[in-house]
Amino acid sequence: MLSKDRSLEDSGLRYLPNLNQEKKNTSPNQEIFPLTATVNQQDHLEVGGCDIEVLIEQFGSPLYVLDESTLRTACRAYKESFEKYYSGESLVIFASKAWSCTTICTIINSEGLGFDVVSGGELFTTLKAGVTPEKIYFHGNNKSVEELEYAVESGCKIIVDNWLELENLTKITQNSNNKPVEILLRLTPGIECHTHEYIQTGHIDSKFGFDPTQIEEVFKFVSQQKGLSCIGLHAHIGSQIFELQPHLDLPEVLAKWLLTAKEYGLPIKTINVGGGLGIRYIESDDPPSIEEWVRTVATSVETACKKHGLELPQLIAEPGRSLIGSACVTAYQVGGSKIVPGIRNYISVNGGMSDNPRPITYESLYSCVVANKMSEPCTEKITVAGKHCESGDVVIKDATLPKTEPNDILVVAATGAYNYSMASNYNRIGRPAAVLVNQGEANLFIERETYQNLLERDRIPERLVNSVN
Ligand SMILES: Cc1ncc(COP(=O)(O)O)c(C=O)c1O
Repeated sequence: MLSKDRSLEDSGLRYLPNLNQEKKNTSPNQEIFPLTATVNQQDHLEVGGCDIEVLIEQFGSPLYVLDESTLRTACRAYKESFEKYYSGESLVIFASKAWSCTTICTIINSEGLGFDVVSGGELFTTLKAGVTPEKIYFHGNNKSVEELEYAVESGCKIIVDNWLELENLTKITQNSNNKPVEILLRLTPGIECHTHEYIQTGHIDSKFGFDPTQIEEVFKFVSQQKGLSCIGLHAHIGSQIFELQPHLDLPEVLAKWLLTAKEYGLPIKTINVGGGLGIRYIESDDPPSIEEWVRTVATSVETACKKHGLELPQLIAEPGRSLIGSACVTAYQVGGSKIVPGIRNYISVNGGMSDNPRPITYESLYSCVVANKMSEPCTEKITVAGKHCESGDVVIKDATLPKTEPNDILVVAATGAYNYSMASNYNRIGRPAAVLVNQGEANLFIERETYQNLLERDRIPERLVNSVN
């Protein structure tokens, strides 16, 4: 069993003693590790009934290991909580920017959720996974004309972000005899939240959405376009938010906008409150549960609508991180080490900023364990470095770990959101494979990129080929 001295600060290790307990009422976003994480008799970390060491032998490393059960639990928590707390109609849509691929879309679609996409590529992926276009909402602050045409052809709904898009959509639809294209308008709510500056989107100085001072002009323009039907309003505050207050404030702002929309005769039936619920990356993170978040959002929408004499609209929420973030871990292998006397001890792993750019981009913190030494005492303070040519390529600074050696398996938790989807080929390193684990079964759902894959789109101009001696 796990030794007591594992209770060390902020490395996620305090959570290990709970790994072997049944987590019946836990909200996935409040756990650092997937809900099925446990320590087996070989003293190895297991996720979804699969030993991480065995997975590495089978699929190589680095490896994203996605736990199907945690993902499905989060989907159900959102859906059931909206059914419980909101008297009107509701829809939860997955912000697929968190991780867009056909298997993930298939799982989430089977749970009855819809999808938020922000590019032609995300739309294509979602449609290929068999999602009906009526449940897809196309976002983005700079959709190209081609993307808008693709969205219109596909029959998905479009969340319009700015004037140019409105004008382009008007041109695309004005000579069509088809039924009007259903759009939602994204507005900047001017609500601050205490998250990293780059991931705050709802404050006034934001590149996203119409400025609220233009609201009447926008409503007037939209009401005059016969090719467009404005069925909803959208606002998103930010991401990785632990406070509930911004979500209490937003419905009041939306309700006032709804009143104005009514004056212009817009057929609004939906409000979309965005996503943003945070997850626990390190022990000191303390996000509200999915149920608490939904209760806050649902009751504050009902209160605001009642206050302003509005009928309850369809309520959409579009979480990304809190649906998939905690369902995945990334398993690396340990390589070399370096001691900088009196300053820091480093170990390097065989991945880093190309498979997880969040630490170098947002200074994000993570928790890790050594998956093949789960009960060894954590005696070392070690900085886990990535293998890329950037000094800032550090996966975790000052992690508390057992003594490690080359080929040990270092597992970083909560890597399901904005990791694979933000991954790159920096230093010509192929993106890792991803496996789906469930009840002891492991299925590859994204192949590892090979050297050959890295060359697939390279073209050498003929004149250079001929000039080679
Ligand atoms: C418009 C919009 N909706 C939803 C999301 C998902 O946010 P999160 O992953 O924090 O739930 C984002 C992410 O930034 C977003 O920009």
